[in-house]
Amino acid sequence: MIPLTSRQLAQVVDGTLVGDADRVVDGGVVTDSRLAGPGSLYVARRGENADGHDFVEGALAHGAVLTLAEREVPGDHVLVADTQEAFVRLARWMVDELPDLQVVAVTGSSGKTSTKDLLGQVLAEAGETIAPIESYNSEVGVPLTVCRLEPTTQYLVAEMGASGPGHIAYLTAVVPPRVGIVLNVGSAHIGGFGSQQGIADTKAAIVEDLPADGLAVLNADDPLVAAMAQRVRSGAVQTFSLDPERAAADESVTAWAEGLELDEAGRARFTVALRPAAGDPQAVERHAVHLRVRGAHMAANALAVLLAVRHVGVPVADAVAALGRAEAVSRWRMEVTDRPDGVMVINDGYNANPESMRAALTALGDMAHGRRTWAVLAGMLELGEASEARHRELGRAAAERGIDVVVVVGDTARPVADGVHDFTADTGQDGPEVVIATDSQEARTMLEERLRPGDVVLFKSSRDSGMRVLGDQVAGVVA
Ligand SMILES: Nc1ncnc2c1ncn2[C@@H]1O[C@H](COP(=O)(O)OP(=O)(O)O)[C@@H](O)[C@H]1O
Ligand SMILES: [Mg+2]
Repeated sequence: MIPLTSRQLAQVVDGTLVGDADRVVDGGVVTDSRLAGPGSLYVARRGENADGHDFVEGALAHGAVLTLAEREVPGDHVLVADTQEAFVRLARWMVDELPDLQVVAVTGSSGKTSTKDLLGQVLAEAGETIAPIESYNSEVGVPLTVCRLEPTTQYLVAEMGASGPGHIAYLTAVVPPRVGIVLNVGSAHIGGFGSQQGIADTKAAIVEDLPADGLAVLNADDPLVAAMAQRVRSGAVQTFSLDPERAAADESVTAWAEGLELDEAGRARFTVALRPAAGDPQAVERHAVHLRVRGAHMAANALAVLLAVRHVGVPVADAVAALGRAEAVSRWRMEVTDRPDGVMVINDGYNANPESMRAALTALGDMAHGRRTWAVLAGMLELGEASEARHRELGRAAAERGIDVVVVVGDTARPVADGVHDFTADTGQDGPEVVIATDSQEARTMLEERLRPGDVVLFKSSRDSGMRVLGDQVAGVVA
């Protein structure tokens, strides 16, 4: 972190210092008292379930030297009216301490974490980089990531998530990006927004206030994202597409994939084509790319990464090579386990929304290469009134992709079965076999009986619907 004294901290957050003015905070900033260590600053937040002020003694026991608090607490502390506000002021101060820092921020309904993991690995080969751990993308996760900055950091990757209006603008005020990436809009968390346009309005904040030398990286294949080009007030706009025909017809498409195919392990292989940032749009450069991470949607994420890192000075050839080395670092994202008995388990159960479900089903279909495919699906949450219709569409999508067996786990996902029947009724074709399971345990017992060598089985649901856990059990990575 960028060290500071208790006196400085009080100034930065406009708070009142209680205790020693010369305490040195150099051991990181934490909001979880259990993660405090020698020299830490403990930020006592009032959360939904717990009040951080109740855990100050624990933080001190772990070595914290100072607390940011809203009321008197044990040990040295800085008193403020609102610890969350003070926390983001501290984070912003750290950003401003590093005038040469290059910030690349990514938002979208699906693929933020996958993309920040690629960005983190590619940028780390070019210079000292801080990227979020796990999926730290909220009003807590973003400032926590920023507070990991070192005086020598060159690149910061920020994942920015939104579950309601204004959330992205809040985060860009904490850490203004030089490059803002929007992957897709989709319908994640539509519950909190009301409409897809509402989601788009919120996400557009990541590209609206870029510096004059900034760059908006937008998905040309998603109309609501492409339309954000109009809202970029300063800085340049570049776009990416998985559709070479779109790029042929539209010179404003900056990067695209040609000859995209998935190998037998589901890893995208393609030629990336890039127009120059300025100058003759016919001067296209091409590079062969073979990713290690899985799913065709990763090609889109990789294109976004290439545009972003090119803008901050990484040579394209270096970035392409680094992309080819980048591994999946976050768990449960198209995570493949080859069981000793020849069953391939794909665990994409970190989270789910209609778009990422479709992407995963497409990848499953592409990875089959003639093998029997299973999609074990449980509920997508936070869809509000649209829930039933979205699940039903998912059943149809699985059928369209030629999945052999669809296992529907739990009540929320139940309409998936109706969607499969919609497909057979409309097309007259045989759809997938549908198996209904009331819960994970029942699904597990059924799968243990029926899975055969050569089968490929995908697990996916929203986090709280638990398919990542069932996937781990079936893969044999947990009991
Ligand atoms: N560009 C993309 N479009 C659609 N789905 C994607 C994309 N990138 C990743 N996914 C899928 O979306 C799910 C969530 O991925 P993740 O990277 O964790 O996204 P987020 O951080 O936005 O929730 C995963 O199942 C992943 O396979
Ligand atoms: Mg994430």
